[in-house]
Parts: sequence; C-alpha cells; structure tokens
Amino acid sequence: DAHMLEMVDEIRALKKEKNAVVLAHFYMPAELQITEADGGVADFVGDSLALSVAATKVQADNIIFCGVKFMAETAKILNPTKNVLLPSMLAGCSLAESITGEDVRQLKAKHPGVPVIAYINTYAETKAEVDICCTSRNALEIAKSFEGDKLIFLPDEFMGKNLQARIKEETGKNLILWSGACEVHEQFTPQRIKGLQLQYPGAEVLVHWEVPDQTVSESLERGGGIVGSTSDIIRHVGESKAHQFILGSECDLGATLRGMYPQKEFIVPCIKCPHMKQISLERTLASLRALGNPEEVAFLIKLDETIRQKAYAPIERMLAFS
Ligand code: 13P
Ligand code: SF4
Repeated sequence: DAHMLEMVDEIRALKKEKNAVVLAHFYMPAELQITEADGGVADFVGDSLALSVAATKVQADNIIFCGVKFMAETAKILNPTKNVLLPSMLAGCSLAESITGEDVRQLKAKHPGVPVIAYINTYAETKAEVDICCTSRNALEIAKSFEGDKLIFLPDEFMGKNLQARIKEETGKNLILWSGACEVHEQFTPQRIKGLQLQYPGAEVLVHWEVPDQTVSESLERGGGIVGSTSDIIRHVGESKAHQFILGSECDLGATLRGMYPQKEFIVPCIKCPHMKQISLERTLASLRALGNPEEVAFLIKLDETIRQKAYAPIERMLAFS
C-alpha cells in the first residue's frame, strides 16, 4: 500500500544519509526481504550463518539488524566497532531464553572435559562459556568433527535428537542435551504433517532441524523430502523434481519460497515466529530515525567487552570451520 511505499522510500534515504545497511533474515515479513536492488530496503537477506558472515564484511558505520536479538548480538560480537541496531528489543527467541551462562557452567561441571557446542540461537553470555558455535547449516559437520564419544549440544533438544540420529549412525557418538525448544518448530507435530500428507500424497516434506524428532522419522519415511536448515530447504526445492512441498518451518519462509520458485506449490501451515514478527517496516524506520539521536539507546546492542571477547572465540571457530 501507499504508506508502505512511503516508508520504504524514507528508509532508503535515511540509510544513505546515516551510512547504514540493513541485514534481514528469511523469517522477516515479506516486505523486509526485498533487497534494495529489487526496490526494497535490505542490503542482504540470508539465514543465520550467512548473516553472521555478512556482518563481518559491513563497512558502513551502522547495521540495522532485521532479525532477532541473538542474531544482532552475533553481528556486534563479530564487528564490534559498528553500531548494531535491533528495531525491537522484544525480538527474543525461546531457544536463546532457555539457557544462561550459569547453566552452561553447571553442565560443564557435571560433565568435565566434554566439549560443548552451542547453537547460534543463544545469547552472548551463553556463547561465552562454550567451545564452538554452530548454526542449523553446519551443526552436523561440526558435531561429527569432534573426537571422543560424548558431546554437549545445547539448547535445542529436538534438534539435538535429530542430530543424534545421524551422528550415532556415523560416529557412535552420544550427545548430552539441554531442554530448550523452538516455540515455532515444536508445533510441527507428526500428526500435523501426517494430516497434510494425507491431503497431498505427492508432496515432499521440508522440515527444519528444530521440529520434533518423531516428525522427522515418521514423515520423511513416508514421503520424500529433507530435514535441514533454512538454506538446505531452499536449495532442496531448487534441485528437487517434485512440484508440491509441505513446509514444516516458519510461515514467511513459505513466502520466500513462493517468490523464488513461482512454478512450484507450497503447503504451509502458517505458524509465525512472534519474535521475528516484532520487526516491521515501521520499527526499521523508527530505528533509523533514532540513529545519532538520544533515542537510539532503545535500539542499540550493547555488550560487556569481556563477554564479547569470550563469545567471539566460539563463533570465530565456527566460521573458520565453515
Ligand atoms: P537458520 O539458521 O536456518 O537461519 O534458522 C534460524 C532460526 O531461528 C530457526 O528457527
Ligand atoms: Fe527462535 Fe524459533 Fe523464532 Fe527461530 S523461529 S527465532 S528458533 S523462536
């Protein structure tokens, strides 16, 4: 609508004036996933790994991070001299909030010497206590690369179980898990996917690592498809001969897929991440307007320098691995 187009114009002008870039995750509302080149506001759209890499390369003084807080923190950890602004501090994550640095210290005391892998969906304070980070894209390879028969993987229990199923087969390793869950992906129960498979028997199933392990074992056995990261899902659709897909992931990834593959059909039970949806064109504009003014404190990511340095090491290890 006209109001949206006005906001887009103002955001584009303010980005230039204030030397800012916009990084956006694939779970953003569709209007925030359009790049500048295509008439939108984003400089880069990606999954959590690609956004981390993109953050290391930003030359501009200011990064407007259209994603959730743990992602904006990761950008700040990697590129600390930049101002990183999150358009809404309400953009949390049920996984990141499920565990603290103190929880990790206790886990390590209970399992001395066992390496700790933290999913990137954790806060800086948690990352500061771990050996290496991973995203959904490199978790399996990173977990497999460790020596020894035990590994602590946190905080997503379902993802841990899904990884465990693969790792056990290939390496015999056991994962020690935490009890976190993604409030979006945990809703893709076996029953929900099964019901859709009955209605669309020819469809392939695309599920994120964070869905329940039973969903993965049952639905992938029944039809084709994959369990993987956001980018794995996007890539699989491009390579698959199938025409119909059932998506077990965030609703707006469905919009992204429809835009990328207009000739294919996507069945998407629309479950939106309430945290990602805190970010809008309005809030993005508000953060840009605040930039350089006293109001900007409400948007700025601030980290204790000791924590930042401790959290940098496991992220850097992950990037070196990738
Ligand atoms: P990706 O690592 O696939 O971008 O996923 C991020 C996320 O929040 C999944 O729920
Ligand atoms: Fe966190 Fe799940 Fe939302 Fe991703 S989709 S930000 S894991 S709550």
